Amino acid sequence: MKLTKLLTYLMAEPVQNDFHDPDITSIEMDSREVRKGSLFVCIKGYTVDGHDFAQKAAENGAAAIVAEKELDVDIPVIIVRRSQRALSVLSDAFYGQPTKKLQLIGITGTNGKTSTTHMVDEIFKKAGRQTGLIGTMYIKIGDETFPVKNTTPESVTLQKTFKKMNDEHVDTAIMEVSSHALSLGRVHGCDYDIAVFTNLTQDHLDYHKTMEDYRQAKSLLFSQLGGSFNHEKPKRAVLNADDKASAYFERVTAAHILTYGIENDADVMAKQIEISAQGTSFELVTPKGTKQITVSLVGRFNVYNVLAAAATAIAAGLPFDTITSALEELQGVRGRFELVNHNQPFPVVVDYAHTPDSLENVLNTCKDMTEGKLFVVVGCGGDRDKTKRPKMAEIAVRIADEPIFTSDNPRSEDPLAILRDMERGVEGTYYHSIANREQAIFFAIANAKKGDVVLIAGKGHETYQQIGNETFDFDDAEVAGRAIVELNKK
Ligand SMILES: Nc1ncnc2c1ncn2[C@@H]1O[C@H](COP(=O)(O)OP(=O)(O)OP(=O)(O)O)[C@@H](O)[C@H]1O
Ligand SMILES: [Mg+2]
Repeated sequence: MKLTKLLTYLMAEPVQNDFHDPDITSIEMDSREVRKGSLFVCIKGYTVDGHDFAQKAAENGAAAIVAEKELDVDIPVIIVRRSQRALSVLSDAFYGQPTKKLQLIGITGTNGKTSTTHMVDEIFKKAGRQTGLIGTMYIKIGDETFPVKNTTPESVTLQKTFKKMNDEHVDTAIMEVSSHALSLGRVHGCDYDIAVFTNLTQDHLDYHKTMEDYRQAKSLLFSQLGGSFNHEKPKRAVLNADDKASAYFERVTAAHILTYGIENDADVMAKQIEISAQGTSFELVTPKGTKQITVSLVGRFNVYNVLAAAATAIAAGLPFDTITSALEELQGVRGRFELVNHNQPFPVVVDYAHTPDSLENVLNTCKDMTEGKLFVVVGCGGDRDKTKRPKMAEIAVRIADEPIFTSDNPRSEDPLAILRDMERGVEGTYYHSIANREQAIFFAIANAKKGDVVLIAGKGHETYQQIGNETFDFDDAEVAGRAIVELNKK
């Protein structure tokens, strides 16, 4: 695409240096990715400022640069007010506005995004849709998966992915939308059709500072659904009737609303819920029909995820029978209440719960299946919200019988300092502290008996542990497996 053509989308004129209208071959924000003909966009990040790499980009063959200030380079420079915003606009235009050709479903909330996107994916596939998925675990197009760095990628990667979905004839894209991505404008240009809200509880307060700020960031998904009532391509918001933030989202959007819930009256509801270690049964009540269903997922929070997924499918007009049969066939997602089984006499659960709220939920679910003692191995990540450390420790001590504090991903922090922050919430109570995560898992499993339950919380599907600047192989389920084999030998 010619540079002048791209600039019409940006509504930007000012150009430094001679202009010969080059053909743009790619859009890049990392100077190392720049090839001949790339348009390099200088983004000010947390750690580095892209403006410092303009010269490098020029040397690597960039055809032009988009920046927030004049630069000392001899290729064309387009100066914009906000290069982050320009990046979203340019990426969307360069890849041919790919989300316009997709039914785009965005799911936001503190917990349950990954779980819900996978359920929605299963239902839509069952209905014959070609789906694409973007989230914490991977990007998935058809059956092929690609690794990701963030839950919601940077706008260029995002639009490039949507373009790939267009090329592979995907008709429905389902994505997790993080509050970071919303507040940074990474999803500007994404033409959502259905926006889904799971819940809002404390997390990411290191970034957002207050709950109001956090809620406001989440609300952008709903306010950006647009202000028009387009009958051809109607927009819908799917909201959790049992979460008080929903009222706020309802106020900021012009879209049609569909609600789901367990306690408050809602369009889609679960009634007479019965939970066991094998699965969950309830009556699914919807505007399209009512049916008694059994899903293999455990826990009340998963009922919410199922309801959110069912409501999304109803909002998209899928047949009720397809929805219920897809739900009954659902398999769990890696690291989300994943049972590790090597014929040991007690259940071992690996779960990604890493917020106070999700930890409390998953502990309560485990407690319901425990006849003897409940063991929990839990830590808190370094370089992230410190206020949740004492809270998570307090929850662990209150609900579990054998709380074992350990390291999560300490990152640049001292693991022992993180443990001290956790211990501050539970002074004078009974708990164990074992900084080495492998030893902590072995300790729990070696001491558990028939009737007990062992929960290993916080890292879920992750296959690494970040300590200092290094990343080590670490997989909770694999480590637990070894500990069980060790136990079985005795
Ligand atoms: N609806 C829910 N309400 C509360 N807790 C939940 C809910 N769904 C899942 N959880 C808990 O949160 C953990 C993470 O779930 P999931 O990965 O689906 O959330 P997420 O929103 O994608 O998280 P992240 O922001 O880290 O990507 C689960 O392992 C479970 O313990
Ligand atoms: Mg996720």
